[in-house]
Amino acid sequence: MNRITVVGAGNVGATCANVIAHKDLAREVVLVDIKEGVAEGKALDIWQTSSINNFNTRVTGVTNDYLRTKGSGVVVITSGIPRKPGMTRDDLIKTNAGIVKDVTEKVVKYSPEAIIIVVSNPLDVMTYAAYKAANKSANKIFGMAGILDTGRYRAFIAEALNVSPKDILSLSLGGHGNTMVPLPRYTSVNGIPITELLGKAEIDKIVERTRMGGGELVNLMGTSAWYAPGAAAAQMVEAIVDDQKRIFPCCAWLQGEYGLKDIYLGVPVKLGSGGIETIFELNLNDDENKLLQESAKEVKKVMKVLDDMKLF
Ligand code: LAC
Repeated sequence: MNRITVVGAGNVGATCANVIAHKDLAREVVLVDIKEGVAEGKALDIWQTSSINNFNTRVTGVTNDYLRTKGSGVVVITSGIPRKPGMTRDDLIKTNAGIVKDVTEKVVKYSPEAIIIVVSNPLDVMTYAAYKAANKSANKIFGMAGILDTGRYRAFIAEALNVSPKDILSLSLGGHGNTMVPLPRYTSVNGIPITELLGKAEIDKIVERTRMGGGELVNLMGTSAWYAPGAAAAQMVEAIVDDQKRIFPCCAWLQGEYGLKDIYLGVPVKLGSGGIETIFELNLNDDENKLLQESAKEVKKVMKVLDDMKLF
């Protein structure tokens, strides 16, 4: 791919650009920020690791100059403020909705064909905001959350079992918030169901820690996480750029799947050069479905807050 853009040179955006460069996914990664010099500086710093870390991807940074993002194949939007301790992701909507709208319009102006991955919080609703602003097919605009959430879940399971995190296969559905639905019944250690390896109480504890995983980090650091969010977004970029047809939980626009309509929510999808190429519908049991529907209800509430802001 010729060009990939990452909007927002904060911790998440810079980490994402760094991982994209390490993986040599494009000839150029453009990092954009509104703060004079920040994107330029971080991009220059990443670019100066190219000879050390052996990659060719040219990393450049610009202040608000969207002309330099022209013709990007994939754009990752990380713009907005992160959480502080005591805040939920939903508290960010008033500030971040306007930012995401503005950024998306500029992105689409210069890269009308781009596949857009939204990372800004509150994730599901910011993806919805970008969708409204972009006016493009929903298979080309979706959100990153499930890879991050399952990344945490897999790490906790690997720790509990003292096995490689690479061997943990898992799924999480629903919104990127405390109502997310990690699915133990769909989680295995290379095929061995975790329900055969861990007791219910231990699994419940891991599921709960996963749900609160972002908050655990906000409390530790005073701001939200970046290594895992940045790497998760870069993994989605890789699946698209290399047309890998990988199956990941992503925040997708539902039109009847799981009995849900007109909502962005985390579900398993196939990611390839066409963006979201398939949405998979699972045969959830009653308990799992109930949790998913509750999560959808929470996301719908925040979508309504966005609708009531009348930005669109
Ligand atoms: C998290 C933030 C980025 O979950 O939503 O860490």
